[in-house]
Amino acid sequence: MNVAFITGAASGIGLATARLFLSRGWRVAAADVDGGALDAAFRHEPDATAITCDITRPGAVDEAIAEAARHGELLVVVANAGVHARNTVLNITDEALDRLLDVNVRGTVRTVRAAARTFAAAGRGSIVITASDQAFIGKPGNFGYGLTKGAIAQLTRTAALELAPAGVRVNAVCPGTVDTPFVDRIFADAHAAGGGDVDTMWAEERSLFPLGRTCRPEEVAEAIYFLAVQATFSTGALLKIDGGLTAG
Ligand SMILES: NC(=O)c1ccc[n+]([C@@H]2O[C@H](COP(=O)([O-])OP(=O)(O)OC[C@H]3O[C@@H](n4cnc5c(N)ncnc54)[C@H](O)[C@@H]3O)[C@@H](O)[C@H]2O)c1
Repeated sequence: MNVAFITGAASGIGLATARLFLSRGWRVAAADVDGGALDAAFRHEPDATAITCDITRPGAVDEAIAEAARHGELLVVVANAGVHARNTVLNITDEALDRLLDVNVRGTVRTVRAAARTFAAAGRGSIVITASDQAFIGKPGNFGYGLTKGAIAQLTRTAALELAPAGVRVNAVCPGTVDTPFVDRIFADAHAAGGGDVDTMWAEERSLFPLGRTCRPEEVAEAIYFLAVQATFSTGALLKIDGGLTAG
């Protein structure tokens, strides 16, 4: 059975992606730091293997990918787990910067490196990384987060070139705002810090996008599936899923 390994699979985009692969007959190795949420999401799913894994712990992703490969033919790795924090160039702390770099950059590098080693040895495989519209544009209040997503876009290009001779593809999705608990938390934090009410923030967010709404996690999952499985001549691609935001 074909296997897809997905990080951040217990919530939001990763969970929607896991469900999509399952619905298309794949076995899914669902990895997340939140073991309880993984259990709740996949307890009744016979074709899913839940793997509690913190991508910031050295060796953890290597072990998790090795376990995923024991469940069938590992063909896809989705490096999706990520965190957000609100800050600006004026107020970002060293601690906030370290946390963002540790999860979003080092954790993603570890995931991509572990996948690359497995796939290069096998001479096939496909890696999809979750970047952001902030690979293309700046967003005030997202100083540290945005720099991590720019880094991820860059690593996608170089990893794609380095792995192409081995027959391994590396691509990234670049979503605009997606309706997930990730954004709920950002708006709740902004509210707690004295911002407006959360419903107004969502309405303002929707109005930013030329399509007049934010993105559903299932729409990102479709793009991840496309790059991972169907886009067999795409590598090094940064696929915008942003309702037209960065077209202007
Ligand atoms: N929601 C958005 O608007 C949006 C937009 C663009 C990009 N993204 C990116 O999409 C990805 C998924 O975001 P989401 O919106 O689904 O968020 P989410 O918070 O709903 O899900 C993220 C998951 O990652 C897990 N995770 C966090 N740190 C981890 C770690 N150290 N090890 C393993 N798992 C960890 C969390 O437990 C959670 O289950 C992130 O990389 C995020 O930056 C999100």
